[in-house]
Order: sequence, then structure tokens, then C-alpha cells
Amino acid sequence: MNSQLTDLQDRCNGLLLHLLGSGSSEFHPHAAPLLYRLFEASAYSLTAGGKRVRPLLVYAAGTAVKEECLSAQGIDYAACAAEMIHTYSLVHDDLPAMDDDELRRGQPTCHIAFDEATAMLVGDALQARAFELLAEAPDVPAETRVLLVQCLGAAVGARGMAGGQAIDVAASDREISLEHLEVMHTLKTGALIQASVQMGALVAGASSEQCEALDEFANAIGLAFQVRDDVLDVESDSATLGKQQGTDAAHNKPTYVSLLGADGAKAKLAELLDDALAALQPFGESASSLREIAHYIAERDH
Ligand code: IPE
Ligand code: IPE
Ligand code: MG
Ligand code: MG
Ligand code: MG
Repeated sequence: MNSQLTDLQDRCNGLLLHLLGSGSSEFHPHAAPLLYRLFEASAYSLTAGGKRVRPLLVYAAGTAVKEECLSAQGIDYAACAAEMIHTYSLVHDDLPAMDDDELRRGQPTCHIAFDEATAMLVGDALQARAFELLAEAPDVPAETRVLLVQCLGAAVGARGMAGGQAIDVAASDREISLEHLEVMHTLKTGALIQASVQMGALVAGASSEQCEALDEFANAIGLAFQVRDDVLDVESDSATLGKQQGTDAAHNKPTYVSLLGADGAKAKLAELLDDALAALQPFGESASSLREIAHYIAERDH
């Protein structure tokens, strides 16, 4: 990742806790000791690490449309909202009722470090806070804020991430077709990635042609993200991943590797990366960060 992207990662990392409510009297160990555990667990999961790919996509899509969007705060609210939704999805994904994982971002998962009820509530609270941030985004016109809420809502609900996760749960121990696998991956992981790109574009005031091209890019890169995740689950190790390796096979989950083999999955990945880069052609130099993220997504080692 180049220094421009690591600067944006730092920018998001520096804001997440503040936008979660750190420092406010509601989240103080002495003022509200019973409530504080929820804040502590939310902060734990949010700051445990993480590549911040979704916030990076918000910033980079915004930059592709209009570089000056980075000088206002609105884009930060959309970037942090995307990361809060993503972190919530991981906290719930790791619960015993779902993937039952004990390691995440190199640390004990939320329900192990705290408890299951708290982990469920962390997800609920992060999700709600994300939408609140979009509604409050400074320097963003009210009608754009409505579009942001609509965009993220569609991406994380039953027609998006939650729906994809429901298919994932139902598909364990089952054989599914490549077509159904693609739908599952596109929903459970692709939808939020696509929304992150769309939100960046919306904040920057993209035209409908620009939105269409960016959507094509995001479709390809969103699916690529989960294909790479499937490959890494087979080929990497737990220390590098910061999460337990080999769990897809252990839980008998259909993945790109289980259906196509490792080489087939990698060929698919290369195809998706080409599609993603081709979609960025109209943007020229302004899409250089998006290109860098696309390569990172397809080639990352964790
Ligand atoms: C992991 O997401 C879960 C998937 C959607 C495949 P990331 O690989 O982005 O996880 P972090 O945020 O870097 O921990
Ligand atoms: C996670 O997919 C997708 C979401 C969290 C929405 P995985 O279950 O493959 O993610 P990891 O491998 O646990 O990170
Ligand atoms: Mg899962
Ligand atoms: Mg999982
Ligand atoms: Mg996985």
C-alpha cells in the first residue's frame, strides 16, 4: 500500500473512536459503569486492527470524482460508517451461532474477550451509529445524506450483507452451484464494498455516468475481495491472517476454492481484477488510489 493510502488509513483510525463517542459523558466508566462495557467492547473490536479497506474505498472513490472532497469532513463520516458496519458484521460473523471463531484481527473475538450478549449488542450499536453518522455528516447536503442512508441500508439488509450471511449459514454442509456461490459472495461481502464506493462517489457529487462506471468497478472488486478471502483461508496461516485459517473447510462451507480449486479461484480473481481496472479507464489519473486498492484486494496476504 502506498503512503497516500496509509495516510488515509491513519485518518480513519484517528477518527473512529471519536465518532463512536469516545470522551462523551455517556461513555465514561464512572459516570455510567454498566453502560461502559458496551462502549469498551465496541471500541475493542473497532480498534483491534483491520485493513480499513472499506473506508479507503470511500476516500478513493471520492477522490476519483473530485479530489477536493478530502478537504471536508463529510467523507470521514461515510468512511467511518462503512468501517463500523464492517466491524459489526465481523463481530456477529464470529459468534458461536455463525462461524464460531475465537481469533479476529490477531486478538480474541469480541464474544471471547467480553461475552456473547455484549458481542450481539456491539453489532447492534455499531450498526445504529453508522446510520446516525450518515444522517449527521457535516458539509453534505441533506438530500445527499438521505441517499447515503438509503445506499448503506440497501447494502447491509436482507437484499445485501445480511441476506448473503443468511445464505452462507444455510449453505454450510450443502453443495451449491457456482452461480449461487457468486450471489452469496456478492451479497455478503460485495454489497458493503459496493456501497463504500457509492458513498464516496455520492459525497463527491458524482454524475450518473461516473456512478455507473464506479459501480462496475465495485461489483468486480467486491466479489474479488471474497474470492481472495477464500483463497487465503486455504493457503495462508492463522498468524498472518490474524484469524483462524482453514475454517471454511472445517465447517464444510462452499467457497470459490471448494468449487473451482485454488488455481480456478485465482484465475477468477485475475479476471475480476482486469474487469475492475477496465471500469476505471474513464477516470484517468484521478483513479490511481482506486487502482492501487484493487491490486491490494486481489493480491493481499491477509
Ligand atoms: C474479512 O474482512 C471479512 C470478509 C468480508 C471477507 P477484511 O479482510 O476486510 O477484515 P479486516 O477488516 O481487515 O479485519
Ligand atoms: C464474512 O465472510 C462476511 C461478513 C462478515 C459479512 P467470512 O466468514 O468468510 O469472513 P472471515 O473469513 O470470517 O473473515
Ligand atoms: Mg462467515
Ligand atoms: Mg467468518
Ligand atoms: Mg473467510
